[in-house]
Amino acid sequence: MPQMTSIGQSGPQVHPLGYGGMGLEGYYGKSDDEEGLQALGQAIDLGMMIDSADAYGNGHNESLIGRAIKGRRDEALVATKFGIVFEKGHDYSKLPTGWKFDVRINGTPEYAQRCLDLSLDRLGVDHLDLWYLHYPDPSIPIEESVGAMASAVEAGKVRQLGLSNVTADELRRAHAVHPIAAVQFEYSLWRREVEAELLPCVRELGATLVAWSPLGSGFFSGTLDQIPERDFRLNNPRLRGENLSTNRDRFAPLTELAAELDVTTAQLALAWLLHQDSVLPIPGTRYPKRVLENAGAAELRLDDATLSRIDELAPTGLAEGGTLIP
Ligand SMILES: NC(=O)c1ccc[n+]([C@@H]2O[C@H](COP(=O)([O-])OP(=O)(O)OC[C@H]3O[C@@H](n4cnc5c(N)ncnc54)[C@H](OP(=O)(O)O)[C@@H]3O)[C@@H](O)[C@H]2O)c1
Repeated sequence: MPQMTSIGQSGPQVHPLGYGGMGLEGYYGKSDDEEGLQALGQAIDLGMMIDSADAYGNGHNESLIGRAIKGRRDEALVATKFGIVFEKGHDYSKLPTGWKFDVRINGTPEYAQRCLDLSLDRLGVDHLDLWYLHYPDPSIPIEESVGAMASAVEAGKVRQLGLSNVTADELRRAHAVHPIAAVQFEYSLWRREVEAELLPCVRELGATLVAWSPLGSGFFSGTLDQIPERDFRLNNPRLRGENLSTNRDRFAPLTELAAELDVTTAQLALAWLLHQDSVLPIPGTRYPKRVLENAGAAELRLDDATLSRIDELAPTGLAEGGTLIP
């Protein structure tokens, strides 16, 4: 068993890797609920925090997780998010994603309250272990959103608070209202911008950086040859058309390094993240056997020479194409 860690300084003990539930909603290829339940069960057995959002599958993901934790709530740590709006006929702020459809965000106290009760209901629990604002709402100060989230902690419905896709400045302002235990941002071998400001700020505040898409949405699986039509990843410029093959060539030395170390590319990508202080990666997979494979990354020790070599092979800015979320 690897050394367990905590979310923030005072959170419960968890596996150093979490489990990302988004892929169980068919965004990256067809998903089967029964197999998804096995993958979730495997992650819970290992003590991994389960990551969801009310947006994933429009609530279905939380319901599926509710089924996975039924009868074993005490063993399971569940994190979810709110803020993405599904209802039509409103003028909430649009996120600048560049996707072919609009994503709108509502971080108002009234909406937070409504979403929380729905999430608790779908998960079948009386409290969340960690609750995130999915994106900051540009139309209101972040202090207002976090103030509402803090009320949920006082009411006993939430244990710890998190933010997702924020700047260091937003994090500091929010943290002044209520301690923020976790911050989600994309972080992987091809997206290292957090190292400049956000990650140092997370460490200074004693929080945890929860790395989303730690495998580059599957790019660092070593198995992604092309993206099928209708796959959500076609919204990611790095994985589209010529960029995909250009990036495959640029990052190929990492696959060679993984082979040299006798580990899979996914394990190397996750192990590298686990060697960064205060970082908890949350890889997603539809398959229980890959949950185990990914967990193997927590057993790997990379020496300084190997870490320096990875820095040389995957410097910030190496990838061709923009990012999924700016
Ligand atoms: N806060 C946010 O805005 C935000 C945004 C995006 C994601 N997230 C969270 O982050 C989690 C992870 O991100 P992600 O799902 O986008 O990307 P990811 O974890 O980087 O990659 C997932 C992809 O990698 C494949 N994979 C996983 N382990 C593998 C292995 N050992 N060998 C080969 N392939 C493997 C999966 O395919 P298979 O299913 O076929 O194994 C899936 O296609 C999400 O589930 C979600 O919880 C948060």
